Amino acid sequence: LASIRVDVSSIQPGSQLTVLWQGKPVFIRHRTEAEIAIAAEQDLEVETMPDPLARNANIDGTALATDENRAMPVPEGAEGATPRAWLVQMGVCTHLGCVPLGNQAGDFGGWFCPCHGSHYDASGRIRRGPAPENLPVPVTAWADASTLQLG
Ligand code: FES
Repeated sequence: LASIRVDVSSIQPGSQLTVLWQGKPVFIRHRTEAEIAIAAEQDLEVETMPDPLARNANIDGTALATDENRAMPVPEGAEGATPRAWLVQMGVCTHLGCVPLGNQAGDFGGWFCPCHGSHYDASGRIRRGPAPENLPVPVTAWADASTLQLG
């Protein structure tokens, strides 16, 4: 797997950077406290969501799709940083591969795929529409406190 490193230090809370990795878009979102709170509230419905699995390549494949299981951990050396502020996921709709719109689009405060109307929530979980699975979280790690490594 070819890996890339992305400096995320200039991504402000409430904004998202899209990078290309292995020819596909990856959404790197720096969430606000309000977005994290919405995702935590949405966690209460996780067991009845269309896809209850985390779909996070960095953890066990049977893990539940709680926001904690999908968001990045706080990087080492960044103690005091907001937990679960960073969400990294493939920007590829799990229905037929369109690129969903971000910035709290759709009815669940996350992403919306306009191709056939799939709504993803504040943690990238599919909530309504034809997409069968949550937006997948790719292999990602902190290279340092402000640099993400994909792959
Ligand atoms: Fe996204 Fe069909 S490709 S809803």
